[in-house]
Amino acid sequence: NNTSEFAQTLLQWNKLDNTRQMPWKGEKDPYKVWLSEIILQQTRVEQGLAYYNSFIKKFSNIKKLAAAPDDTVFKLWEGLGYYSRCRNLLATARYISKEKDGVFPSTYEEIVQLKGVGPYTAAAIASFVYNLPHAVVDGNVFRVLSRVFGIDTPIDTTAGKKYFTQLADELLPVKQAGIYNQALMDFGAVVCKPAAPLCETCPFNTSCIALKNKVVDFLPVKEKK
Ligand code: ADE
Repeated sequence: NNTSEFAQTLLQWNKLDNTRQMPWKGEKDPYKVWLSEIILQQTRVEQGLAYYNSFIKKFSNIKKLAAAPDDTVFKLWEGLGYYSRCRNLLATARYISKEKDGVFPSTYEEIVQLKGVGPYTAAAIASFVYNLPHAVVDGNVFRVLSRVFGIDTPIDTTAGKKYFTQLADELLPVKQAGIYNQALMDFGAVVCKPAAPLCETCPFNTSCIALKNKVVDFLPVKEKK
Protein backbone atom coordinates (compact mmCIF):
# COMPACT_ATOMS: atom_id res chain seq x y z
CA ASN A 1 0.00 0.00 0.00
CA ASN A 2 0.80 3.69 -0.15
CA THR A 3 0.77 4.61 3.52
CA SER A 4 4.06 6.02 4.77
CA GLU A 5 6.00 4.18 7.46
CA PHE A 6 5.55 7.28 9.60
CA ALA A 7 1.74 7.22 9.21
CA GLN A 8 1.59 3.47 9.90
CA THR A 9 3.53 3.85 13.13
CA LEU A 10 1.43 6.84 14.21
CA LEU A 11 -1.87 5.07 13.44
CA GLN A 12 -0.68 2.01 15.34
CA TRP A 13 0.19 4.20 18.36
CA ASN A 14 -3.24 5.83 18.06
CA LYS A 15 -5.07 2.52 18.06
CA LEU A 16 -3.11 0.89 20.89
CA ASP A 17 -1.83 3.67 23.15
CA ASN A 18 -3.72 6.92 22.58
CA THR A 19 -6.05 7.40 25.54
CA ARG A 20 -6.64 11.13 25.03
CA GLN A 21 -10.34 11.93 25.04
CA MET A 22 -12.01 15.20 24.07
CA PRO A 23 -15.69 15.76 23.29
CA TRP A 24 -15.05 16.85 19.69
CA LYS A 25 -12.92 13.78 18.87
CA GLY A 26 -14.69 11.59 16.33
CA GLU A 27 -17.48 14.16 16.12
CA LYS A 28 -19.15 14.21 12.69
CA ASP A 29 -21.33 17.29 13.20
CA PRO A 30 -19.43 20.04 11.33
CA TYR A 31 -20.97 22.71 13.58
CA LYS A 32 -19.39 21.13 16.68
CA VAL A 33 -16.01 20.56 15.05
CA TRP A 34 -15.98 24.11 13.65
CA LEU A 35 -16.86 25.55 17.07
CA SER A 36 -14.13 23.50 18.80
CA GLU A 37 -11.51 24.52 16.25
CA ILE A 38 -12.37 28.23 16.50
CA ILE A 39 -12.09 28.03 20.29
CA LEU A 40 -8.80 26.10 20.09
CA GLN A 41 -7.21 28.54 17.64
CA GLN A 42 -5.78 30.65 20.46
CA THR A 43 -6.86 28.74 23.56
CA ARG A 44 -5.46 25.66 25.28
CA VAL A 45 -7.56 22.49 25.33
CA GLU A 46 -7.89 22.56 29.16
CA GLN A 47 -9.32 26.08 29.10
CA GLY A 48 -11.33 25.64 25.90
CA LEU A 49 -13.22 22.55 27.13
CA ALA A 50 -15.57 24.40 29.49
CA TYR A 51 -16.37 27.03 26.85
CA TYR A 52 -17.04 24.38 24.21
CA ASN A 53 -19.41 22.55 26.56
CA SER A 54 -21.27 25.76 27.48
CA PHE A 55 -21.73 26.75 23.84
CA ILE A 56 -23.02 23.31 22.84
CA LYS A 57 -25.37 23.22 25.82
CA LYS A 58 -26.83 26.65 25.03
CA PHE A 59 -26.70 26.37 21.22
CA SER A 60 -27.08 22.77 20.10
CA ASN A 61 -27.00 23.68 16.41
CA ILE A 62 -25.85 26.47 14.14
CA LYS A 63 -29.30 28.02 13.68
CA LYS A 64 -29.68 28.47 17.44
CA LEU A 65 -26.30 30.17 17.62
CA ALA A 66 -27.20 32.35 14.63
CA ALA A 67 -30.48 33.46 16.26
CA ALA A 68 -28.87 34.54 19.54
CA PRO A 69 -28.36 38.22 20.34
CA ASP A 70 -24.78 39.45 20.02
CA ASP A 71 -24.44 40.26 23.73
CA THR A 72 -25.57 36.76 24.79
CA VAL A 73 -22.87 35.16 22.67
CA PHE A 74 -20.15 37.63 23.66
CA LYS A 75 -21.06 37.05 27.32
CA LEU A 76 -20.51 33.30 26.82
CA TRP A 77 -17.18 34.00 25.10
CA GLU A 78 -16.00 36.23 27.97
CA GLY A 79 -12.57 35.22 29.26
CA LEU A 80 -11.40 33.59 26.03
CA GLY A 81 -10.01 36.79 24.53
CA TYR A 82 -9.33 37.46 20.85
CA TYR A 83 -12.92 38.66 20.45
CA SER A 84 -12.66 38.83 16.66
CA ARG A 85 -13.05 35.05 16.87
CA CYS A 86 -16.45 35.52 18.49
CA ARG A 87 -17.49 38.17 15.96
CA ASN A 88 -16.49 35.88 13.07
CA LEU A 89 -18.20 32.91 14.74
CA LEU A 90 -21.49 34.79 14.83
CA ALA A 91 -21.13 36.18 11.31
CA THR A 92 -20.42 32.70 9.93
CA ALA A 93 -23.28 31.10 11.90
CA ARG A 94 -25.70 33.70 10.52
CA TYR A 95 -24.35 33.35 6.99
CA ILE A 96 -24.74 29.56 7.01
CA SER A 97 -28.12 29.80 8.74
CA LYS A 98 -29.59 32.34 6.31
CA GLU A 99 -27.80 31.68 3.01
CA LYS A 100 -27.29 27.89 3.33
CA ASP A 101 -30.36 26.98 5.41
CA GLY A 102 -28.07 25.94 8.25
CA VAL A 103 -26.17 23.37 6.19
CA PHE A 104 -22.42 23.59 6.81
CA PRO A 105 -20.28 23.49 3.62
CA SER A 106 -18.61 20.15 2.90
CA THR A 107 -15.67 21.01 0.64
CA TYR A 108 -12.31 22.45 1.69
CA GLU A 109 -12.64 25.27 -0.84
CA GLU A 110 -15.95 26.45 0.63
CA ILE A 111 -14.90 25.92 4.25
CA VAL A 112 -11.68 27.95 3.91
CA GLN A 113 -13.69 30.95 2.69
CA LEU A 114 -15.69 31.20 5.91
CA LYS A 115 -14.86 34.17 8.15
CA GLY A 116 -12.41 33.22 10.88
CA VAL A 117 -11.39 30.01 9.11
CA GLY A 118 -7.85 29.78 7.70
CA PRO A 119 -6.05 26.91 5.94
CA TYR A 120 -5.30 25.13 9.22
CA THR A 121 -8.88 25.24 10.55
CA ALA A 122 -10.32 24.33 7.14
CA ALA A 123 -8.03 21.29 6.91
CA ALA A 124 -9.07 20.24 10.41
CA ILE A 125 -12.81 20.47 9.67
CA ALA A 126 -12.50 18.93 6.18
CA SER A 127 -10.49 15.97 7.45
CA PHE A 128 -12.19 15.34 10.83
CA VAL A 129 -15.76 15.59 9.55
CA TYR A 130 -15.55 14.61 5.88
CA ASN A 131 -12.29 12.60 5.92
CA LEU A 132 -11.00 14.79 3.09
CA PRO A 133 -7.25 14.45 2.41
CA HIS A 134 -5.96 17.75 3.80
CA ALA A 135 -2.99 17.68 6.19
CA VAL A 136 -3.25 19.85 9.30
CA VAL A 137 -0.07 21.77 10.07
CA ASP A 138 -0.14 23.31 13.54
CA GLY A 139 2.42 23.71 16.30
CA ASN A 140 2.15 20.03 17.22
CA VAL A 141 2.81 18.95 13.65
CA PHE A 142 5.84 21.26 13.25
CA ARG A 143 7.30 19.83 16.45
CA VAL A 144 6.74 16.14 15.70
CA LEU A 145 7.93 16.31 12.08
CA SER A 146 10.95 18.52 12.85
CA ARG A 147 12.10 16.00 15.47
CA VAL A 148 11.31 12.65 13.81
CA PHE A 149 12.78 13.80 10.47
CA GLY A 150 15.49 16.05 11.93
CA ILE A 151 14.44 19.23 10.12
CA ASP A 152 16.08 22.45 11.34
CA THR A 153 14.45 24.81 8.85
CA PRO A 154 12.84 27.60 10.94
CA ILE A 155 9.09 27.08 11.16
CA ASP A 156 8.27 30.80 11.24
CA THR A 157 9.53 31.46 7.71
CA THR A 158 7.85 31.14 4.33
CA ALA A 159 10.34 28.46 3.28
CA GLY A 160 9.79 26.56 6.53
CA LYS A 161 6.02 26.62 6.32
CA LYS A 162 6.21 25.46 2.71
CA TYR A 163 8.64 22.65 3.53
CA PHE A 164 6.63 21.30 6.48
CA THR A 165 3.33 21.61 4.63
CA GLN A 166 4.72 19.63 1.68
CA LEU A 167 6.13 16.94 3.99
CA ALA A 168 2.83 16.75 5.91
CA ASP A 169 0.93 16.31 2.63
CA GLU A 170 3.29 13.52 1.52
CA LEU A 171 2.92 11.64 4.82
CA LEU A 172 -0.89 11.90 4.97
CA PRO A 173 -2.67 8.57 4.49
CA VAL A 174 -5.42 9.82 2.17
CA LYS A 175 -8.06 7.29 3.18
CA GLN A 176 -7.57 7.90 6.92
CA ALA A 177 -6.93 11.63 6.89
CA GLY A 178 -9.21 12.53 9.79
CA ILE A 179 -8.05 9.87 12.24
CA TYR A 180 -4.42 10.50 11.28
CA ASN A 181 -4.59 14.29 11.70
CA GLN A 182 -6.17 13.99 15.14
CA ALA A 183 -3.65 11.29 16.09
CA LEU A 184 -0.74 13.54 15.06
CA MET A 185 -2.07 16.38 17.23
CA ASP A 186 -2.63 14.05 20.16
CA PHE A 187 0.84 12.56 19.74
CA GLY A 188 2.39 16.03 19.83
CA ALA A 189 0.38 16.87 22.95
CA VAL A 190 1.00 13.72 24.99
CA VAL A 191 4.27 12.11 23.73
CA CYS A 192 6.33 14.49 21.58
CA LYS A 193 5.69 17.37 24.00
CA PRO A 194 7.45 20.75 23.90
CA ALA A 195 9.17 20.05 27.24
CA ALA A 196 10.07 16.68 28.72
CA PRO A 197 8.94 14.58 25.73
CA LEU A 198 8.44 10.85 26.40
CA CYS A 199 11.26 9.59 24.15
CA GLU A 200 11.87 6.45 26.22
CA THR A 201 8.47 5.02 25.30
CA CYS A 202 8.06 6.76 21.92
CA PRO A 203 7.26 4.45 18.98
CA PHE A 204 9.71 6.48 16.85
CA ASN A 205 12.62 6.21 19.28
CA THR A 206 14.61 3.86 17.06
CA SER A 207 14.22 6.07 13.99
CA CYS A 208 13.88 9.64 15.33
CA ILE A 209 16.69 11.77 13.86
CA ALA A 210 16.53 14.38 16.63
CA LEU A 211 16.83 11.72 19.33
CA LYS A 212 19.78 10.09 17.55
CA ASN A 213 21.53 13.47 17.32
CA LYS A 214 20.54 14.55 20.86
CA VAL A 215 18.78 17.66 19.57
CA VAL A 216 15.18 16.90 20.61
CA ASP A 217 15.12 19.90 22.97
CA PHE A 218 16.34 22.23 20.20
CA LEU A 219 13.61 21.40 17.66
CA PRO A 220 11.62 22.89 16.11
CA VAL A 221 13.77 25.91 15.25
CA LYS A 222 12.28 29.41 15.29
CA GLU A 223 14.03 32.27 13.56
CA LYS A 224 12.51 35.12 15.57
CA LYS A 225 11.81 35.26 19.28
N1 ADE B 1 -6.03 22.07 18.82
C1 ADE B 1 -6.68 22.43 17.73
N2 ADE B 1 -7.50 21.48 17.28
C2 ADE B 1 -7.35 20.45 18.14
C3 ADE B 1 -7.91 19.18 18.22
N3 ADE B 1 -8.82 18.77 17.32
N4 ADE B 1 -7.53 18.38 19.22
C4 ADE B 1 -6.62 18.81 20.09
N5 ADE B 1 -6.04 19.99 20.08
C5 ADE B 1 -6.41 20.82 19.11
